[in-house]
Amino acid sequence: MNFDFTEEQLMIRQAARNFAQNDLKPGVIERDEHQTFPTEQMKKLGELGFLGMMVAPQYGGGGMDTTSYVLAMEELSKVDASASVVVSVNNSLVCYGLEKYGNEEQKQKYLLPLAKGEVIGAFCLSEPEAGSDATSQHTTAVDMGDYYLLNGVKNWITNGNSASTYIVIAQTHPEKGSKGINALIVERSMEGFAVGAKENKMGIRGSDTHSLMFTDVKVPKANRIGEDGFGFPFAMKVLEGGRIGIAAQALGIASGAYELALNYSKERKTFGKPLSDHQAIQFKLADMATEIEAARLLCLRAAWLKDNGQPYGAASAMAKLFASEAAMKVAVEAVQIHGGYGFIKEYHVERLMRDAKITQIYEGTSEIQKIVISRDLLK
Ligand code: CAA
Ligand code: FAD
Repeated sequence: MNFDFTEEQLMIRQAARNFAQNDLKPGVIERDEHQTFPTEQMKKLGELGFLGMMVAPQYGGGGMDTTSYVLAMEELSKVDASASVVVSVNNSLVCYGLEKYGNEEQKQKYLLPLAKGEVIGAFCLSEPEAGSDATSQHTTAVDMGDYYLLNGVKNWITNGNSASTYIVIAQTHPEKGSKGINALIVERSMEGFAVGAKENKMGIRGSDTHSLMFTDVKVPKANRIGEDGFGFPFAMKVLEGGRIGIAAQALGIASGAYELALNYSKERKTFGKPLSDHQAIQFKLADMATEIEAARLLCLRAAWLKDNGQPYGAASAMAKLFASEAAMKVAVEAVQIHGGYGFIKEYHVERLMRDAKITQIYEGTSEIQKIVISRDLLK
């Protein structure tokens, strides 16, 4: 593993940093307050190539590596985790899934506009009664010959109301369990598809999270990804990469909170000297910086394994587990270092603390990451 970044990787990191400061930071508090989706910012991120970063140029993407993606996700998440989750879902769940497992026709029709950022995608696995227990799908896709009849409800879907293309996981052969599940590409305009109410959330309030309802939606067979019954391994494979994106999001939330706390500790004086001169605060900063560095190395290692064609499922689970726990700890300490000001919205750290929590829950809770890691250790 090389610890030096290439010039291209550094340029991408700088571009993401500039975008975060110039385009995401203004208005981030208001978007959080009013649960406003960053529509304009997403359009611009798409034009800059951040929504299809790793997709091959022939399919409209930037052809970048996963390390670049981690660097970009960290920078965007330092400022606005609501925007970065859209970037993560579009890149690593939707675009990656289509590029790796879709056929040529699906790539031309769906991947191209998604990778160019012309439209946004959503990944729909979770249901009211199937979150961690993802194999127990209640949504059904009944084989009707040349189409599937899709019925059911998906829960907490990121980009639920802003997406045009949805990858929906559904059960076709219940008797086959996880081997009877399919992944279908559903268009928003298909008859019988409805978007439910927006969830009122603790954190990442600028992202739009909705339930989705499918009532006798006719999905052409041509929209099935892979062979009949490939839907569950598809979802698991895609989530291996998705977890690198969320790990990098958690890393960004942690480093954003840390940087704010570090600067504040130098400015705020108590007992005649800056906070940063008190050893108790110095030790907090040392702990925070160490957690962040370890999280960063785990993210970059998982990215490196993926880019080098090696198994990365356990590594991405470790990165997500560690980085999300670090984000929570660091963000809480950042609020503590800010004292009363930390509790006030304009200082940003309270939002980062609320945003950190979701990284321990979505794309597999911390407990689920431990299942994935321990199964890999014991296999
Ligand atoms: N790659 C390929 N196949 C895999 C796999 C992988 N990584 N993981 C499992 N499979 C296969 C297994 O081999 C098994 O097939 P066989 O029977 O042929 O061996 C089949 O899938 C079922 O696997 P398990 O027996 O391991 O299933 P399980 O019921 O024990 O569950 C689990 C495994 C890891 C807990 C899984 O259910 C899981 O990951 N749950 C969490 C779901 C999740 O992460 N949801 C995220 C939704 S997306 C999201 O959240 C986006 C967002 O917020 C932004
Ligand atoms: P449950 O599975 O009910 O778990 C409850 C608790 O029990 C958790 O702490 C869990 O870790 C623990 N637990 C469960 N089983 C075990 C076990 N075997 N051993 C130990 N502990 C266990 N899903 C999508 O498909 N697409 C999306 O775009 C998406 N976006 C989301 C956005 C937001 C804001 C939120 C909140 C969720 C999103 N999700 C999405 C759903 C998310 O992936 C699930 O919430 C998550 O996987 C957990 O499932 P659950 O909520 O049903 O919790």
